[in-house]
Amino acid sequence: MDGNGRWAQQRGLPRTMGHRKGVEAVRGAVRAAGEAGIAYLTLFAFSSENWTRPETEVNDLMGLLKAFIRRDLAELHAENVRIRVIGSRENLRSDILPLLLEAEETTRQNSGLTLVIAFNYGARDEIARAAKKLAAMVAEGRLSTDEIDAVALDRQLDTRGIPDPDLVIRTSGEERLSNFLLWQAAYAELLFVPEFWPDFTREIFFAALETYARRDRRFGGVKSAAVSG
Ligand code: FPP
Repeated sequence: MDGNGRWAQQRGLPRTMGHRKGVEAVRGAVRAAGEAGIAYLTLFAFSSENWTRPETEVNDLMGLLKAFIRRDLAELHAENVRIRVIGSRENLRSDILPLLLEAEETTRQNSGLTLVIAFNYGARDEIARAAKKLAAMVAEGRLSTDEIDAVALDRQLDTRGIPDPDLVIRTSGEERLSNFLLWQAAYAELLFVPEFWPDFTREIFFAALETYARRDRRFGGVKSAAVSG
């Protein structure tokens, strides 16, 4: 969800206004994902590196996330949306963690779209925490080093039980992953769109899905037509 700040700057508004408008785009994207029959939508809401932003901006983003959960949780629950939160939960502010846990708990049994909120998330941190868990299991004698493989590590990630993403979309024209789902996106299709996140409409989302549908995914193999001759 990149480009909130630049969207605001272009209009001579404070960055905060870009984030506010960004929340509206979040609502639109969740609705559009549901309509498209997407099973999992992951939004990068706050990275483990975002803490280095000015305190006022961090506070504003925290406030927006809190307001989103407070205001939208009942509606999301009514729409059968399940919420999962990925990212480090260590040292999270006492006004945020309980809300995130409540959102997960309230929607646990829902079977519609799973909305994954990446909060205080960084892929390298996630992988390091998973490695630490495996090391602890070995130290406790619950796992042998020979049993450590990609599947074992995958099971210790925050995303356990969530399939790998098929498509990663980044807005605002920046073409990098910035520590987002580095492990899980190994075979994901990447799509970079020029629009800033607040301008990410349903139409742009659906056009992205059409682009994705035309991509040829081989997962390291060869095209089935090439195999048959
Ligand atoms: C990137 O724009 C956006 C963010 C760092 C925050 C995204 C968070 C929200 C929209 C609010 C809360 C989230 C949810 C799920 C309700 P940027 O500030 O990096 O923009 P710039 O690159 O133009 O400065």
